[in-house]
Amino acid sequence: MGISILGMGRYVPEQVLTNDDFTRFVDTNDEWISTRTGIKERRMAGWEPTWYMGREAAMSAIKSAGIDPADIGLVISCTATSDFHTPSMSSIIQHQTGAVNAAAFDMNAACSGFVYALDTARRFLETDDNMKYVLVVANEALSRFIDFSDRASCILFGDGAAAAVVEKSDKLFSSHLGSDGSGAELLCARALNVAPEVALKNGFKDPFPEMELHKLRQNGKEVYKFAVQALPRAFELAAEKVNITKDDIDWFVPHQANIRIIETAAKKLGAPMEKFIVTLDHYGNTSSASIPLALCESIENGLIKRGQKLALIGFGAGLTYGGIILEY
Ligand code: COA
Repeated sequence: MGISILGMGRYVPEQVLTNDDFTRFVDTNDEWISTRTGIKERRMAGWEPTWYMGREAAMSAIKSAGIDPADIGLVISCTATSDFHTPSMSSIIQHQTGAVNAAAFDMNAACSGFVYALDTARRFLETDDNMKYVLVVANEALSRFIDFSDRASCILFGDGAAAAVVEKSDKLFSSHLGSDGSGAELLCARALNVAPEVALKNGFKDPFPEMELHKLRQNGKEVYKFAVQALPRAFELAAEKVNITKDDIDWFVPHQANIRIIETAAKKLGAPMEKFIVTLDHYGNTSSASIPLALCESIENGLIKRGQKLALIGFGAGLTYGGIILEY
């Protein structure tokens, strides 16, 4: 059983931070950021909480799907940058969108979140005959977790949200989700203070013992190495289940972390860059929101059309990765 994406919506904060803006408070320059990452600007949440961006994206997805929110059976919000440890973003969004009959939970698979959540949505739809629609919302405010004194990471991220309303269908669908927790320490933001020696004794080596709470730290080079093998692998593992090759795909919608990662993945797959949707130049890396933002924008501007075959491929902290092949 597959799914049909009935409608999508998105929200990005108004505030734009360009590479040149960064030079006012970080020792960097547009040339370095552009050539190393492909990013030119990103959006920064000002007053907007994460749930608010998700709510706005969700409302517009519901409108575009033309459904009654009371018919939504489940709201899944994927986020690594929740406003609260509890309540979940999805419970707030469930209430605010009028999805009065829906269950709600959050899911954190970092930047692979949307791929994980969409696949989870399909599984709920498949096993629950009474479930009509699932609302998947990806909402992220990375700017609140950035360490602006770390110039190699602070220039990468941006804020935003996108959402999709899905229902069951017999269209093409395949997925593969994966995780390699041996790289868990490569990309971290600490939520609570646990003494490093306690963590170490219990099997997880604290990578950044001096790390401030809620600040993102990463080993950029190692994450890069993981990413360039994870993206092609995510596609290939999903594709082989349905006998699809890269030539059957109309559009690859990859996680938007770095143009060099996408170019290397394209080369490894032997697929032309023209088939890869790229939005990181104007949004940066918005974690789980990056794939649905790219998807939604490309549907709105007419690039992606009904009937086309898409490959959504992501990777992120965890380290997680995942691929979905579906017909739009
Ligand atoms: N502006 C100017 N110079 C910078 C800089 C910046 N913003 N950030 C780092 N530099 C400098 C470094 O200090 C270093 O200088 P040195 O050679 O004098 O020591 C030099 O640039 C090279 O740094 P390096 O870290 O080796 O760069 P890189 O080519 O590995 O690129 C990343 C860094 C972060 C862009 C790259 O590793 C990357 O994209 N990794 C993946 C990260 C990612 O996608 N994370 C999210 C995953 S979901």
